[in-house]
Amino acid sequence: MKKYYAGLDLGGTFVKGGIVDEQGRIVIKDKIPTGRERPYGAIAADMAQLVKDLASRAGLQEGQVAGVGIGSPGLIDAEHGVIVYSNNIRWENVPLCGAVQERLGLPVCITNDANAAALGEHFCGAGKQFGSMVFITLGTGVGGGVILNGELFEGFRSAGGEIGHMVIERGGWDCTCGRKGCFEAYASATGLIRRTRESMVAHKESAMWKIAGSLENVDGKTAFDGMRAGDAAAKQVVDEYISYLAEGVINLVNIFRPEAIVLGGGVCAEGETLLAPLREKVSPWLFGGADYAPVAIVAASLGNDAGLCGAARLAMCRK
Ligand code: BGC
Repeated sequence: MKKYYAGLDLGGTFVKGGIVDEQGRIVIKDKIPTGRERPYGAIAADMAQLVKDLASRAGLQEGQVAGVGIGSPGLIDAEHGVIVYSNNIRWENVPLCGAVQERLGLPVCITNDANAAALGEHFCGAGKQFGSMVFITLGTGVGGGVILNGELFEGFRSAGGEIGHMVIERGGWDCTCGRKGCFEAYASATGLIRRTRESMVAHKESAMWKIAGSLENVDGKTAFDGMRAGDAAAKQVVDEYISYLAEGVINLVNIFRPEAIVLGGGVCAEGETLLAPLREKVSPWLFGGADYAPVAIVAASLGNDAGLCGAARLAMCRK
């Protein structure tokens, strides 16, 4: 009987779930709203139900789903299946694994969401050919998954890899973690949206008003679209955004010197519009120059599926 694994990617807005085979092929996937204001038990119940629904819609028999993996934002105690602290969903000491497990009767394991996405990209996406890579997700927050010589680096008690919370501007913008000037405050989609809105307020003539319609409708694409329409204020927002992103990327490259930086999250849909100037800003500042140990800067190829794929991969490896 062929075995499958379920991957669940818990986000602030949606829980994405999928059933994945041992080759990394997604046989079915779907997403449900997280409803993050609810007690964790209700969210766990929905996550378990999603796995059951997906398995039955894929026509799998009892026992064919061999395990479940979860990717969740925050600091995760992987050994005990507990979300120790999450700045995004605002949880502390939530025993999510057990809560999902008791509803499914299957082994459930958990890791940080960006670690899961890194595992997914490394297993069957843009990171496949790289032994060492740093995955950076640019979404609501900025997450990181560091893979060194084929192994996920998680730090002591899996509490490391929080690249979004390195300061790139001392005394800078507030971060949800309580510090100021974190990489996440500037390089997340949330940071980009905040800066876009500020620029619109300062430039009433900007084409961004027409593009977004209102401040509430601004998203991570607004400034990029404005730049494409020839708007100077929009171009400045994009340039600044990419400069801040570059600062963080340079730090990470100089610490880990991976073969690749793999960028994920919605902002990456901009492709070369984002990547080409980023490479230009990063390259001159690589320690010792860019030639000795060249670093590829590429976009993730699994898109929104990286997290669920990697979560399933985690379950596969823990069998
Ligand atoms: C959290 C990380 C998470 C990232 C992406 C950050 O704010 O601190 O744990 O991986 O957002 O969701």
